[in-house]
Amino acid sequence: MITNRQIFFQHLALPSQIPIGLEIERAEGIYMYSPDGKRYIDLVSGVCVSNLGHRHPAIVEAVKKQLDSYMHLMVYGEFIQSPQVKLASKLAEVLPKHLNSVYLVNSGSEAVDGALKLAKRVTGRTELIGFYNSYHGGTHGAFSLLGNESIKYAYRPLLPDIRFLRFNQFDDLQLISERTAAVLVEPVQAEAGVIVPEAGFLEELRQKCNATGTLLIYDEIQVGFGRTGKLFCFEHFQAEPDILCLAKAMGGGMPIGAFIASKEIMLSLTENPDFGHITTFGGHPVSAAAALANLKVLTTPPEIWKNAELIGKKFEDALSSLSMVKKIRRKGLLLSIELDSIETNQRAMKNLLQFGLVTDPFFFMPQAFRIAPPLTITEEETETTILLVREALNQLSK
Ligand SMILES: Cc1ncc(COP(=O)(O)O)c(C=O)c1O
Repeated sequence: MITNRQIFFQHLALPSQIPIGLEIERAEGIYMYSPDGKRYIDLVSGVCVSNLGHRHPAIVEAVKKQLDSYMHLMVYGEFIQSPQVKLASKLAEVLPKHLNSVYLVNSGSEAVDGALKLAKRVTGRTELIGFYNSYHGGTHGAFSLLGNESIKYAYRPLLPDIRFLRFNQFDDLQLISERTAAVLVEPVQAEAGVIVPEAGFLEELRQKCNATGTLLIYDEIQVGFGRTGKLFCFEHFQAEPDILCLAKAMGGGMPIGAFIASKEIMLSLTENPDFGHITTFGGHPVSAAAALANLKVLTTPPEIWKNAELIGKKFEDALSSLSMVKKIRRKGLLLSIELDSIETNQRAMKNLLQFGLVTDPFFFMPQAFRIAPPLTITEEETETTILLVREALNQLSK
């Protein structure tokens, strides 16, 4: 009989020839189970999606309830659908006052593309600025702002009039000008290997955008929804965005994204010409119901993300003394564990998997692996996980 593994390699189009290739039958909390009954601890959270763990009961219940009412009714933005309006108003409630208009989409890439179009439309300018080693998604617009030529070169020409700055290089901010429609930045660069902005960097970027009439777009797709120890990552800094992009953990395991701005800015998509962004499934009612439940859990005291800093620090303290570990970068419960080479990291991740720990490398720092378990991980689970990581890495260095 043909196995799922064989079909996976034969009939599923894959983004690379070296997938993790793990088969999972069910998942609960921080655990995932393979068909042979082996239990894995999820240190990736589906790349910062399952912040509340797998199958959080509030999300499962919301999904089931919505399935019993309706699924897709009409393309986005035509009918009044209760899960969408409740989600938008809850987001507006927890965000700064000016981020009060929520455009619901399907994914992070779509949120970024929508935000870029919006910025061009509002400013009437064409130049878009991104940062080296940033990742914003796979669609043409988001891909054009990907800050690493080694992946992009084969797909040129991409969007024109794009330039890149070096993250944390204050001098580079001078390149932002009256020609610039928008600067797109991750407030903490995730796939670069968890690069945290230096004190004052985002604040100076904000000032430069103010001075030039440039819109500041934050991509919080990977670092949002509690991952860094605040509900939204930008809350660590004194610099708010004009447009905020969200996705990944937003749906608690269901696909949904959003770009969010002021009503005034957002209106430009609707006039001269209208239909500046159209999406059929954006804000799918089942995903929106899940996202609302997710946000309600995240905003109910004691907020689960308040543990992220403490747990993240525990991981950092316990692993930084290991001889194999070269450097740890961290914000909240998002850690990059850098080893001495890509090859060592590949061996380490293989061994971690043998110990029942699922990790993955960072796109632009392949010599580092990610530790980003669900924020719901308990103290006891944290201790167990740390012991296993230490054992797996120590075994390799013997
Ligand atoms: C920071 C960031 N932005 C955008 C995206 C793209 O999101 P999606 O894969 O949902 O299109 C990702 C995905 O990994 C991401 O990490």
